[in-house]
Amino acid sequence: MGTKLLRVVVGIAVAVLLLVGGGAYALEHDELDKILKSTPANGPFWKYGTVIMYGKSRKGGMKPAVFAHWSHRAKYTCRVCHLDLGFSMRSGDTGITREQYLSGKYCGACHDGKIAFSVKDGSQGGCEKCHLENQKSLEVAFEKFAATMPPASFGNGIDWIKALREGKITPRNTLTPEQSSMTLPEKLRQPLKLGTVSPRSDVLFSHAEHFAELDCSSCHPEIFNIKKKGTQQFSMEANLYGSYCGACHMFVSFPMNDCRRCHSSMSNYYEAN
Ligand code: HEC
Ligand code: HEC
Ligand code: HEC
Ligand code: HEC
Ligand code: HEC
Ligand code: HEC
Repeated sequence: MGTKLLRVVVGIAVAVLLLVGGGAYALEHDELDKILKSTPANGPFWKYGTVIMYGKSRKGGMKPAVFAHWSHRAKYTCRVCHLDLGFSMRSGDTGITREQYLSGKYCGACHDGKIAFSVKDGSQGGCEKCHLENQKSLEVAFEKFAATMPPASFGNGIDWIKALREGKITPRNTLTPEQSSMTLPEKLRQPLKLGTVSPRSDVLFSHAEHFAELDCSSCHPEIFNIKKKGTQQFSMEANLYGSYCGACHMFVSFPMNDCRRCHSSMSNYYEAN
C-alpha cells in the first residue's frame, strides 16, 4: 500500500516538474530565457519567406524582384526549385540574370506564358509583376490566401504540414510529368531522437515529414552529417543563427520562435513570451 501512495506522490511531483520546468528534461529557466531573448522576432506573416532580390535589378535600372515562398510552396515542393531548378537556399546566392531566365532557367522555367505569366511580356505591367513597385498587392493577395489555410502562431501564420495533410494544398513534386521518385528507406521511417549537444534533448526529427518536400541532398552532407549524432556544434544558438535546422526554420519553414513544435515537452509559458 505504502509504495502505491509513494508512486502517486512521485507521479504528481513529476507532473508538476513537467509543467514548471518546461519539459521532461527540465531545461533550465535561465537557459530558456536566454534563448527566448536571443530569438529574433519574425515580422508580419505575409513577409516571412519573401526574398527581395535587388543586386542585379538595381544595376539594370529595375525595381527589386520579389519572390514569395508562401504562394509558390502551395503549388510546388521545395525539391522542384531547390533540386531540379538549382535555386540556392541562401538568398542572393543564385545570382539570377535576365539572360538566364529568358533562356528558360530559374524563374523562366515556369514564367514562360504557359505555366505562369511570362518574363518576356513587358506589356500591361508585365515586368512589374516581379519587379514590384508596391508590395501592398502581395500583402492583399496573402491575406486572401491565408484565410483559407489552417492557422499557426509564427512564420507565415500557416500550419503548412496540416495544410498538406488536409489536402488544402497539393504541391507538385516535379515539373515534368510525374517521374517515380525514390521511396524512403525503411530504416529512416522511425523518428530520430536528437541529442548531440544536449543529452536532455526532447527533439524528435522525422525523415518522413521532411522527405515529402525535400531531397536527401537538401540536408546531407552540407547541413547535417549523415551519421547519427555526427553533427558537431549542434546547439540551439547555432540554430538561431541560421545553421542546421535554422537553415530552413528561420527563413521559410515555421521559425525557431515556435519552440513547442520541436520541443514537444516544453510548456506554453515559453510561447507566450
Ligand atoms: C518556386 C521555387 C521555389 C520553391 C517551391 C521553394 N523555394 Fe526556396 N527559394 C527560391 C528562390 C528563388 C530563393 C532565393 C534564392 C536566391 O536569392 O539566390 C529561395 C531561397 C530559399 C531560402 C533562403 C531564404 C533566405 O531568406 O535566406 C530557404 C531557406 C529556402 N528557399 C527554403 C525553401 C523550402 C524549405 C522550401 C519548401 C517548403 C522552398 N524553399 C521552396 C525558390 C523556391
Ligand atoms: C516552379 C515554377 C515557378 C518558378 C520556378 C517560379 N514561379 Fe513565380 N509563379 C509560378 C506560378 C504557377 C504562379 C501563379 C500563376 C500566375 O500568376 O500566372 C507564380 C506567381 C508569381 C508571382 C505573382 C505573385 C505571387 O507570388 O503569387 C510572382 C511575383 C512570381 N511568381 C515571381 C517569381 C520569381 C521572381 C521567380 C524566380 C526567382 C519565380 N516566380 C519562379 C510558378 C513559378
Ligand atoms: C518572373 C519574375 C520576373 C519577371 C516577370 C521579370 N523579371 Fe527581371 N528579374 C527577375 C529576377 C529574379 C532578377 C534578378 C534580381 C536581382 O538579383 O536583382 C531580374 C533581373 C532583371 C534585370 C537585371 C539583371 C540583368 O541580367 O540585367 C533586368 C534589367 C530585368 N530583370 C529586366 C526585366 C524586364 C525589362 C522585364 C519585363 C519585360 C522583367 N525583368 C520581368 C525576375 C523577373
Ligand atoms: C526546428 C526545431 C526547433 C525549434 C523550433 C526549437 N528548437 Fe531548441 N533545439 C532544437 C535542436 C535540434 C536542439 C539540439 C538537440 C541536440 O543536441 O541534438 C535544441 C536544443 C535546445 C536546448 C538545449 C541547449 C542547447 O543549446 O543545445 C534548449 C534550451 C532549447 N533548444 C530551447 C529552445 C527554445 C526556448 C525554443 C523556442 C524559442 C526552441 N528551442 C525552439 C530544435 C528546435
Ligand atoms: C531536413 C533535413 C534532412 C533531410 C531532407 C534528410 N535528412 Fe538524414 N538526417 C538528418 C538529421 C538532422 C540527422 C541526424 C544527424 C545527427 O544526429 O548528427 C540525419 C541522419 C541520417 C542518417 C543516420 C540515421 C541513423 O539512424 O543512424 C541517415 C542514414 C540519413 N540521415 C539518410 C538520409 C537519406 C537517405 C535522406 C533522403 C531520403 C535523408 N537522410 C534526408 C536530416 C535530414
Ligand atoms: C532543408 C530545410 C529543412 C531543414 C534543414 C529542417 N527542416 Fe524541419 N521542416 C522543413 C519543412 C519544409 C517543413 C514543413 C513545415 C513548414 O515548412 O513549416 C518542416 C517541418 C518540420 C516539423 C513539423 C512536423 C509536424 O508534424 O508538424 C518539425 C518538428 C521539424 N520540421 C523539425 C526539424 C528539426 C528538428 C530540424 C533540424 C534537425 C529540421 N526540422 C530541419 C524543412 C526543413
